[in-house]
Amino acid sequence: MTAQIIDGKALAETLRQTFKARVEALTARGQRPGLVVILVGEDPASQVYVRNKVNGCLAIGMHSEKIVYPADIAPRVVLDKIAELNADPQVHGILVQLPLPAQFDEQEILEAISPEKDVDGFHAENVGALLQGQPHFIPCTPYGVMKMLEAAGIDLTGKEAVVIGRSNIVGKPMAALLINAGATVTVCHSKTRNLAEHVRRADLVVAAVGRAKFVTPDMLKPGAVVIDVGINRLPDGSLCGDVDFAACQSVAGQITPVPGGVGPMTITMLLANTIEAAERKAGLR
Ligand code: GUN
Repeated sequence: MTAQIIDGKALAETLRQTFKARVEALTARGQRPGLVVILVGEDPASQVYVRNKVNGCLAIGMHSEKIVYPADIAPRVVLDKIAELNADPQVHGILVQLPLPAQFDEQEILEAISPEKDVDGFHAENVGALLQGQPHFIPCTPYGVMKMLEAAGIDLTGKEAVVIGRSNIVGKPMAALLINAGATVTVCHSKTRNLAEHVRRADLVVAAVGRAKFVTPDMLKPGAVVIDVGINRLPDGSLCGDVDFAACQSVAGQITPVPGGVGPMTITMLLANTIEAAERKAGLR
């Protein structure tokens, strides 16, 4: 058996095409959707992510700009900028790229963003709404995973789902979304005992550990759906997920590749959240 590939790149492209008309309609009303991305420091991976986010917006007619600060900037400067952006009617989404340098209290920064402009869905108010099953903004990576599962026709009701990783950005909101969709959810992490035993039970595995080829075929139930959120750089410079894709392909039922899987969907859902923020402001939702 060879697993069916869930093609995130193709789905992302299809969705982005459908966004163009919404952006045009908003622009015609004087509400061109606008996203501001704040980057602190020079982390090379963050620089790539931020560039892709800004370019993703521009490619479908949205407004987007990045604001870059040196790594040693005082948090006060960033907080003042966020306050200014909160009050700017042309700005519908504000995103502060994580991680931040050590002098920052990340939570303080995330809470400073107006919940109406929090297109990452990281503000406590938005996290709470998601947990209550009434999401306002869904964090982009798990949102992208849910869209991929939906497009692949996977019904989650009553399914055993195992999320590997408990980050605020992926693992925790992913678990909340899967619970809301009717799955029975187990969250594994670095302290989990007998991790492979949990994963072997799973109809759906979401790997978000940040370790190359962490998920191996012996851990999988035959026919499982395997979603790989990881992006790891190997010593030879190539990209690789948290799943040993080549080996798992013969055991999984459906699987996402890296690159070309979850990655393109993350930015797509950021665009979706920003457009939705602008539509709400224009009274269209
Ligand atoms: N760093 C890694 N992923 C993300 C994300 O989805 N949003 C932000 N703001 N920072 C990140």
